[in-house]
Amino acid sequence: MDTIKIRGGRPLHGSVKVGGSKNDALAIIPAALLVPGITKLRNVPRISDVERLLNILRYLGADTRFLPDGALEIDASAIHRFDTPQDQVQQMRASFNLLGVLLARFGKASVAMPGGCNIGARPVNFHVKGLEQLGAHLMLEHGVYEGTAPRLNGTEVYLEFPSAGATQHLMCAAACAEGVTTIENCAQEPEVVNLAGFLNACGAKISGMGTPNISIEGVSSLHPAEYSILPDRLQASTFAIAAAITGGNVTICNIQAEHCRPVLSKLAETGVEVIARADEIHVRRNGRLMPTDIKTLPHPGFPTDVQQPFAALLTLADGTSVVTETVYESRFRYTTELQRMGADVRVEGRSAIITGVPMLTGAPVSCTDLRAGAALVCAGLAAQGVTILSELEHLDRGYENLVENLQNLGADIRRSNSPNTTGKLQSA
Ligand code: EPZ
Repeated sequence: MDTIKIRGGRPLHGSVKVGGSKNDALAIIPAALLVPGITKLRNVPRISDVERLLNILRYLGADTRFLPDGALEIDASAIHRFDTPQDQVQQMRASFNLLGVLLARFGKASVAMPGGCNIGARPVNFHVKGLEQLGAHLMLEHGVYEGTAPRLNGTEVYLEFPSAGATQHLMCAAACAEGVTTIENCAQEPEVVNLAGFLNACGAKISGMGTPNISIEGVSSLHPAEYSILPDRLQASTFAIAAAITGGNVTICNIQAEHCRPVLSKLAETGVEVIARADEIHVRRNGRLMPTDIKTLPHPGFPTDVQQPFAALLTLADGTSVVTETVYESRFRYTTELQRMGADVRVEGRSAIITGVPMLTGAPVSCTDLRAGAALVCAGLAAQGVTILSELEHLDRGYENLVENLQNLGADIRRSNSPNTTGKLQSA
């Protein structure tokens, strides 16, 4: 079993380039199957969730390949299957959006219902209701949605919660529907806006993205396009928090700083110096950390995916902070791991009450989910002594080259791979 070993207490310094966004790539890659031709995507992160999704695309009959310059080509001309492997869909929720994509292009699809995960039940009722409103016939049998849609027709959808995934799913399904579809109370995440931009680059007619109401005027077909995946605002936020928690001085490059505004605003409240320019963020902390309260909300509110690493930072603040999670019902499992490191945090319903302590101490901890792993890495970077992280498969889903990036910022961190065939331990 791979582990990451961190000897904490070293302030990070230098600059780090942010990679492509996991959540943007996982939204745009399924959408490429709407296009009968070769789509070219730049800045695609090389992470396990992307590899898993590309496996599913190849299973369906698409050709995918990374070019020498790193761009990803997806040729969806010869799709010949419309059923997705149940085990793979359950492992990776984002592939559920293939249901609407296959229905829109081929009129039939068979996609497993994704399972819950460590942060919540993760239902798909908004997706299903919207697809049925567009005219799809869906039956759930043995955990698999069997769908048919002779023709999808424009409709008016109201989302009771601005779900990012449901907004992205329905935008894809409606792109070539007959007539106009409106999605009211839709999500406004940058990854929703960028997916609309990709679809429009392919000839779709989508407007209103980035506002609570999106309009999609159906077109007869889409054509191939070249497009770029966004820099990962969640990765950037994690590096900013790592700089702050270690009392460091770090420049984060290749990022659209406005996508991180909610996090940077809260970081400044803790007394951290934050200078945001168009495509880079400078973070420095040389004084004590001040407490602050966090409440996660859909974009443009504070992102739930940064709740966990930010809570790690607040464990060292001079006072008590309250972190309230409004998006998921159980996104505090990581707090027991932080307690093992000496954090004073107690969970009461949807809130975590964090009383700052003078220091954290290194300990063996396990990543309960992707962003919990990020929180524990940040805590380990600040803790006195050695922290050993296990269950790294969660981290590998969303953080490309995390260990190397942190090493380049001066962290004492290394990854120990499980013994290879020659029995030697390699350190990455
Ligand atoms: C996306 O998940 C992200 N994942 C999540 O990031 C992120 O936390 C979430 O958006 C919110 O920003 C990807 O983009 C791959 P939602 P998604 O639909 O689309 C409930 C990470 O760490 N809901 O906006 O699944 C749902 O249970 C991951 O990178 C329904 O009830 O999130 C949740 O409580 C974690 N019914 C809330 O809405 C539905 O049909 C927000 O979910 C759909 C969602």
